[in-house]
Amino acid sequence: MREKWDEGEVSRERIREVLDSATRPDLRAEHLDDDLTHGAEMRSDHTWDAQGTVSRAITAAGHGGEPQFPHQQPNVSRETSQDEWPSPWDDDLPLAREAQRAVKVLNPGGDVSMPRPTRRRVLGIANQKGGVGKTTSAVNLAVALALHGNRVMVIDLDPQGNASTGLGVEHGSGTPSIYEALIEGVPIAEVTQQVEGIPNLVCAPATIDLAGAEVELVSVVARENRLQRAIAAYPHPIDYIFIDCPPSLGLLTVNAMVAAEEVLIPIQCEYYALEGLGQLLRNIELVKVHLNPRLNVSTILLTMYDKRTKLADQVEQEVRGHFGDTVLKAVVPRSVRVSEAPGYGQSVMTYDPGSRGATSYFEAAEEIAMRGARMGAA
Ligand SMILES: Nc1ncnc2c1ncn2[C@@H]1O[C@H](COP(=O)(O)OP(=O)(O)OP(=O)(O)O)[C@@H](O)[C@H]1O
Ligand SMILES: [Mg+2]
Repeated sequence: MREKWDEGEVSRERIREVLDSATRPDLRAEHLDDDLTHGAEMRSDHTWDAQGTVSRAITAAGHGGEPQFPHQQPNVSRETSQDEWPSPWDDDLPLAREAQRAVKVLNPGGDVSMPRPTRRRVLGIANQKGGVGKTTSAVNLAVALALHGNRVMVIDLDPQGNASTGLGVEHGSGTPSIYEALIEGVPIAEVTQQVEGIPNLVCAPATIDLAGAEVELVSVVARENRLQRAIAAYPHPIDYIFIDCPPSLGLLTVNAMVAAEEVLIPIQCEYYALEGLGQLLRNIELVKVHLNPRLNVSTILLTMYDKRTKLADQVEQEVRGHFGDTVLKAVVPRSVRVSEAPGYGQSVMTYDPGSRGATSYFEAAEEIAMRGARMGAA
């Protein structure tokens, strides 16, 4: 049953208005430069109260250690526990369910595979609002797909270098990075690094140099197409490329949108998250009209869903009502484990594979893979 809006009908109408205005047909080319300039300034703080679920029957990596699989859990005396306690591996217990989830997520035997797409898919993960889960989604979707048989690249296109941190790849000053690929034309294959522990995953890191790229790109030839060219020249077979965009609509994000065929928009389940959406969709439309006709918003992922708030539910209903099947069924809950993982240079998939956060990213990746398998060849 739908709950009444906390803020009353006015807020609800306002959200509709924002979403409707985003898809207005009267987009004009001359807005592009303005939007890019102003968009580059748009940032917002992202603070939130960490009160997510802390479920941890299988603590996969320990803090920074090797993942443990359920059959390796050593400290349960089967005899004692069978006599006196219910077995923790009993299917009905939360611990056992978490163990099962962990096995599915980590896929230690390689038994579970997500279908590979019929052709390479390049997804720009964009939202000029800060802290909505772009990087977290890029990292976890990439790891999920790579753990299940897909060859994946993450391009860190944000000078903050958060995706590089989250994947545990070197990105200190002087490291060959996406900056060299964009500005100096260094082949992207020369800057990518193998992600440790995930054989099918490579990352093109971002260093602090990228902070200057926004300005430097202005004066280079074909400034909007640099990333597209770099990707096109990548010689190795790859199924997915996720481009983690910065929280702005400047030239770096435009490069991602020209290089990508698809945009994945993470939307945080809170009211203000929708405010910037209109501007984002207008910019995507402008890039589509002027620079990349193949571009489309293929995927929307609801993130940081807090089931205790009515607003989260209402935002979900509205977004689903407006965008229909573009919105993935899987919703990522707000979870402390998700936010802890980058501190250990890991995705939540490896940090706590039995957690709800890991499962939700697994399910989101599975949906993305199923769509990819259905896509026709270009
Ligand atoms: N599902 C979640 N539950 C709890 N915390 C989360 C979740 N997803 C992301 N976070 C945390 O929220 C913060 C912002 O997430 P993230 O860095 O992925 O957003 P972003 O959109 O990439 O931010 P930016 O715009 O700065 O690049 C991070 O501290 C991250 O760990
Ligand atoms: Mg980010």
